[in-house]
Amino acid sequence: MSKFWSNLAKQATPYVPGEQIDDEEILKLNTNENPYAPSSYVLEAISQELGGNLRLYPSPTVDQLREVMGEYYQLEKECIFVGNGSDEVLALSFMAFFNPGQMIRFPNITYSFYPVYAQQFQIPYEEVPIKDDFTLNPIDFYESEGGVIFPNPNAPTSLALPIEEVENIVKNNPNNVVIIDEAYVDFAKQTAVPLIKKYPNILIVQTTSKSRSLAGLRVGYALGNPNLIQALNRMKDSFNSYTMDRLAIAGAIASFQDDLTIKENVTKIINTRKWVTEALRELGFQVLPSETNFIFATHPKYLAKTLYERLKQAKILTRHFPNPLISHYLRVSIGTNQEMEQFLNQLQEIMENLSPINEKKQ
Ligand SMILES: Cc1ncc(COP(=O)(O)O)c(C=O)c1O
Repeated sequence: MSKFWSNLAKQATPYVPGEQIDDEEILKLNTNENPYAPSSYVLEAISQELGGNLRLYPSPTVDQLREVMGEYYQLEKECIFVGNGSDEVLALSFMAFFNPGQMIRFPNITYSFYPVYAQQFQIPYEEVPIKDDFTLNPIDFYESEGGVIFPNPNAPTSLALPIEEVENIVKNNPNNVVIIDEAYVDFAKQTAVPLIKKYPNILIVQTTSKSRSLAGLRVGYALGNPNLIQALNRMKDSFNSYTMDRLAIAGAIASFQDDLTIKENVTKIINTRKWVTEALRELGFQVLPSETNFIFATHPKYLAKTLYERLKQAKILTRHFPNPLISHYLRVSIGTNQEMEQFLNQLQEIMENLSPINEKKQ
């Protein structure tokens, strides 16, 4: 900190992303990236875009991509906003729909970027306790003062709220925007997208980072009533007109034109999730029924933090959260079958060399 910093810079409490260690030998199961390469059409489209046109600014309205996405989601392009990763779309949404002085609500266990945005934009927030089984109680989100945001499926719990309950929350906040962060929805049973045509106050935020294997391209988007999309554009154009670069636009268009590769990869991940869940249960873990590309698991006899540390020593990165409500859980992204076998073998070896009771007493 220094005298040169603005008050905004001094007061910020930045989000801490999962570790990105530059080591080829590390098995990364800590940031819910997709283990499979993006579609070859995406790579081809990006390489075709590499050329003289890079001297030109990209389209500020990203019309071509929004049209292709419109076909995919069966929505008018006026219902679609695209940004530099869904983190940026979420930040702009906080600015566009929530107000300083009006209390918003999100679950007490959720994506840890929400409190960061709320503090940055001086929006008061209530962290609504989730139930003992880690599910949300929908009624607790009714009639909010300033709006609601939650991921569905939730992160890091991996659990999804049934769509009827999502609808009830939207219905019971008629004067406020309800933002559903569907970063992991392609690994789940249901999306809330059909609710857009019924309610003017639902905004759905999704990303190409997970199911589409494009975390490195930074393409996120919001789907909602044109009136909400207009507010997002006002915020973006008061900040940076060109958030989407030419390569990202070209890659994302190709991704939405190739649904087959994504469906194949998602199916593979869901199948891997299934057997890893069973294998962990056989090792004595309690594993929440995941609808995402990660699992959230706890063991009654071993400390999650110790397991996280031992796995890290063995060059396997998982995620452990210090929040006491979930500090006994380990979050593990789903990799390929081979990677998950490596993870399970290592985990078993670690557990065999740890004394369960002493460990728990520490
Ligand atoms: C719930 C949730 N929302 C949003 C994001 C941000 O995704 P991106 O900025 O890569 O689109 C993440 C990333 O892990 C997430 O877990």
